[in-house]
Amino acid sequence: MGIQFIEKSKTFHLYNDSVSYIMEVLPNGHMGQLYFGGRIHLREDYSYLSETILRSMTAYVENDSQPLFTLANTKQEYGVYGTTDFRQPALEVLHENGSRLTDAKYESHQIMKGKPKLQGLPAVYTEDDSEAETLEITLKDSVCGLTLKLSYTIFRDRSCIARSVRLINEGSQNLHLLSAMSLCLDLPDSGYDMVHSSGCWGREFHLKTRHLEPGIQSVGSRRGNSSHEHNPFMVLKRPRTDEFQGEALGFSLIYSGNFLAQAEVDAQQVTRVLMGIHPGGFDWKLEPGAQFQTPEAVIVYSDSGLNKLSQEFHQLYGKRLARGTWRDRPSPILLNNWEATYFDFNEERLLKIAAKAKECGVELFVLDDGWFGARRSDNAGLGDWVVNRDVLPDGITGLAQRVEDMGMMFGLWIEPEMVNEDSDLYREHPDWIISTPGYPASKARHQWVLDYSRPEVVDHIHQMIAKLLREAKISYIKWDMNRSITECYSSELPADRQGEVFHRYILGVYSLYERLTSEFPHVLFESCASGGGRFDPGMLHYAPQCWTSDDSDAAERMKIQYGTSYCYPLRSIGAHVSAVPNHQLGRVTPLQTRADVACFGTFGYELDLNKLSAQEIEDVKKQIVFVKKYRNLLQYGTFYRLENPFEGNLTAWMVVSEDKKDAIVGWYRTLNMANAPFSRLRLKGLSPDFSYTLDGSRASHYGDELMQIGLLTSDTALDEFQRPEKGGDFDARLFILHSEDKQ
Ligand code: DGJ
Repeated sequence: MGIQFIEKSKTFHLYNDSVSYIMEVLPNGHMGQLYFGGRIHLREDYSYLSETILRSMTAYVENDSQPLFTLANTKQEYGVYGTTDFRQPALEVLHENGSRLTDAKYESHQIMKGKPKLQGLPAVYTEDDSEAETLEITLKDSVCGLTLKLSYTIFRDRSCIARSVRLINEGSQNLHLLSAMSLCLDLPDSGYDMVHSSGCWGREFHLKTRHLEPGIQSVGSRRGNSSHEHNPFMVLKRPRTDEFQGEALGFSLIYSGNFLAQAEVDAQQVTRVLMGIHPGGFDWKLEPGAQFQTPEAVIVYSDSGLNKLSQEFHQLYGKRLARGTWRDRPSPILLNNWEATYFDFNEERLLKIAAKAKECGVELFVLDDGWFGARRSDNAGLGDWVVNRDVLPDGITGLAQRVEDMGMMFGLWIEPEMVNEDSDLYREHPDWIISTPGYPASKARHQWVLDYSRPEVVDHIHQMIAKLLREAKISYIKWDMNRSITECYSSELPADRQGEVFHRYILGVYSLYERLTSEFPHVLFESCASGGGRFDPGMLHYAPQCWTSDDSDAAERMKIQYGTSYCYPLRSIGAHVSAVPNHQLGRVTPLQTRADVACFGTFGYELDLNKLSAQEIEDVKKQIVFVKKYRNLLQYGTFYRLENPFEGNLTAWMVVSEDKKDAIVGWYRTLNMANAPFSRLRLKGLSPDFSYTLDGSRASHYGDELMQIGLLTSDTALDEFQRPEKGGDFDARLFILHSEDKQ
């Protein structure tokens, strides 16, 4: 790993064993992009990669050394609009005189060991300076006084680059940042498919693939959260790239608010990727002396398909984005009472559910919505984080202690960013909601969003939540967020700062997370936003797991979890077994299938176990024993997607241990088939020379057989495993592989 600067050609080369990132100072002083991809040799001069040519209708930058230099056809590091480049810019700055030009010229650079922290924002980190090097390039616009610090981190052992930008107003006039992207990457051609997630509530992380075409294609959010609809994640892959082979670039933004992920193909087929805070409605006033830090973006390179790309993200985000004691501890098996009771509970009912959960082996009992203020339905109570003694006479402290006495941890649901009209908080502070003067304040789920851009609001909520955490033995918090932001406006900010509210809001959320996670480091946080409405890398920094979707139907979950795994590690994917008929779809799937899907995530239950039959309880007990035995492998093993649920009747995936001695394969068939053909599933990631036994049978196969020929998944194979009940719709099978061989 290293960062090479070649003085003569003013070229930077960031490299490790797997990737190279090369850029140069252009003739006009701006930064030009030359290459990002698989590792290439170091050399003194990469100027042959500069693609500039005299074209008709092109405007040229006045420049003594190279009079015909233009930005129009030049690949850049941080493109600006308004001189000779007409593509969407990474940066757009409004000056006091109304101009929007910037002329960001190279001034200096600095190479550092390790990686500096990002002020107030979540980011990937190093634990040891030897893990990474960071390059900070300083660019300056001497007309308006804006200084740009472009930051690039390369890791010793990872195929990725982390990027962000700090903007400093060193001039004497107020500047307005109208667009300040985290990442701009110009690629030399457009031969890519764009893969991104596309969905909605209950249908998060559905995958969409489209070929890049001239013009702009983008996904994003202007909802104040990263959203159910899209995710701050996008892949550009070569059209023939699949899960196992071919080139792909993954782009991810470590941010939980409004975002844009965009690819623009210009007339010469150059592809400009932009990723950052959505410029729609964004306007950040930068006074003289002030700084603005963009969120961080990560680009991952894979030369071996999408599985490899995802594994890189899983490793990076699992170990160097997530933090705290729970980062390296598999999630406890939980039971959440939401779908068991909704709002209809009292302490007695909860304890009955908890007792059954304990009997089955559950480790964490989670009390969801409805325990506070006047919250007996979703009409009231949000904002009043004080227990309702009619429901829980001994308070949260009493209930938590009783659950602890049973031998389980206790967890609690909160939705600290929201308020109901019918709440003491709103009655005391009606001006604390986000709303625009003179216009109606839209409600969603009968609630408004608190103005987290105001520090006093965050302080107030902090006091209430910290008090709860201090007083009761709470080991887990589920932090929910059940609506998007509308009528975005803060009564505390002046007119020329209203474009800052969305970003200030999420900074407020991060600051509360930061305070609570550092004051209560033993508490496991799970983020949630009506399921996956804010399942993003920003949240992962504080909460190592996230409730993936309110849709807990096993068949739907295969798709949702498959899509989520493109960027996020299994340790983060909240997955529970719920009751049938399923509450979202009315579908009935076997109990074992529900567990076999959920165990590839942070496993739990979301139902009243007292309602199950004696046989089902025995099955639940076995499921829990199984997850306890294998959860380390299930949550931290190397994950491979094998069969794509978006393409057919089958879903399959597997995890492999680091030493390759253990693996678990999950195989799922949506609809059964009469007189079905023999089927085999080609496995991945095993050692070809190891001999693996299949759980429940005496049969053993070499890794090369299992990877080249495949694992038999058809019913003859089942006989071999003496599986009593066969087939049916929504069938699932887990195959446990183990080898005693040594490398
Ligand atoms: C939405 C969450 O996604 C659910 O799991 C549950 O916590 C409800 N909110 C409670 O209101």
